[in-house]
Amino acid sequence: MADKLRIGIIGTGGIAGAHASAYKSFDDVEVVAGADIIPGKARAFLDRFGWTDAAAYEDTESLCMRDDIDAVSVCTYNTQHAVCTIAALESGKHVLCEKPMCVTLDEGIAMMRAEKKSGKILTIGFQPRYNNNCRKIKRIVESGELGKVYYVQIGGSRRRGIPGSTFIDGSKAAFGAIGDLGCYSLDLSLNSIGYPKPLTVSAYTSDYFGKNPKYYSEAERFSVDDFSAAFIRLEGDIILDYRMAWAMHMDICSDFVILGTDAGLKATAPTPNPLWGSIIGGEIAGLYLMHDKCGDPVTTPLRLENTSGNIFTMKVRDFVDQVKKGGSAPIPTSQIIYNQAIIDAMVRSAKEKCEIKIKIPKI
Ligand SMILES: NC(=O)c1ccc[n+]([C@@H]2O[C@H](COP(=O)([O-])OP(=O)(O)OC[C@H]3O[C@@H](n4cnc5c(N)ncnc54)[C@H](O)[C@@H]3O)[C@@H](O)[C@H]2O)c1
Repeated sequence: MADKLRIGIIGTGGIAGAHASAYKSFDDVEVVAGADIIPGKARAFLDRFGWTDAAAYEDTESLCMRDDIDAVSVCTYNTQHAVCTIAALESGKHVLCEKPMCVTLDEGIAMMRAEKKSGKILTIGFQPRYNNNCRKIKRIVESGELGKVYYVQIGGSRRRGIPGSTFIDGSKAAFGAIGDLGCYSLDLSLNSIGYPKPLTVSAYTSDYFGKNPKYYSEAERFSVDDFSAAFIRLEGDIILDYRMAWAMHMDICSDFVILGTDAGLKATAPTPNPLWGSIIGGEIAGLYLMHDKCGDPVTTPLRLENTSGNIFTMKVRDFVDQVKKGGSAPIPTSQIIYNQAIIDAMVRSAKEKCEIKIKIPKI
């Protein structure tokens, strides 16, 4: 490996800019190539960041054929995560793939098999993992303070927050709020309690806002869900109660709640924010421990941590550091495959209107 880590960026749309800004801030990294299937888009992107010597490609394969690239960021829309990640791994590159991992459980398994065969790092980009309050919640659960955890409630909610662009096009995003916000909320809740294996899922989705021109200007283009709810059984006799909304007639669909036999923990979303009430990115306004003292139920407000750092840059830096030292994936697919399996089962359950048993094949 050369002194500087040599990076390629696959998919040069919206979020690729955040990857580019992070890479640009590191002295030991050089972005040497970009690829986007829209003609001219990768070139314009690279030039915008001052990387005029970097090569621009109009397909992923040409970038992957280069043997002087160490690692790539996969920043395509959801339906292209698997194909681009697998191509990059098969050509010997480490991969930081954007969230969600991919679209189906089968794709996730194929990505893990390619990762195993390649011996390279594959990490999935959940930057709220670097938020100090999300880390604090995990530490509290791990301390045993809550006793046995048996119920988790999570809600990623926006009152009016349907995104645009490729997010609402089923052929590109595959799903809406259920997997877009949903994958963050699943990661926050599952990571906090040690990523127990998912067993069954019963889910519901709707599209009453996205499809209605009264609420959404691009209603005729909208082909995904804008609301979902699910009841998920996890190993260890734990229930995950999940609600996700890009739009609804409510400010928030739930705080983040963890019930244990000795204490309960509640993380509240920032309010008042009528449009974007949510804790999906780790924006936690209050943290409360509910327990008994001398036989009385008491509520103890907990100190919030400093969250001033840029968590997006932290996630990219962690990936770079692990690649440079020959380490391991900061956010491993062995965990995120459970997240993906739940999304896959939720989509099928909502469509088939029945409970789905989750079966995760061996890698
Ligand atoms: N981590 C975060 O905070 C965050 C925020 C926004 C989006 N995202 C995720 O990032 C991904 C991209 O979102 P976006 O808003 O940048 O979308 P976007 O549509 O703006 O950009 C995606 C780009 O990928 C290109 N592309 C598609 N298939 C390709 C292929 N096979 N090879 C090369 N290029 C290809 C498209 O032409 C497009 O330019 C999504 O999966 C989304 O969920 C993450």
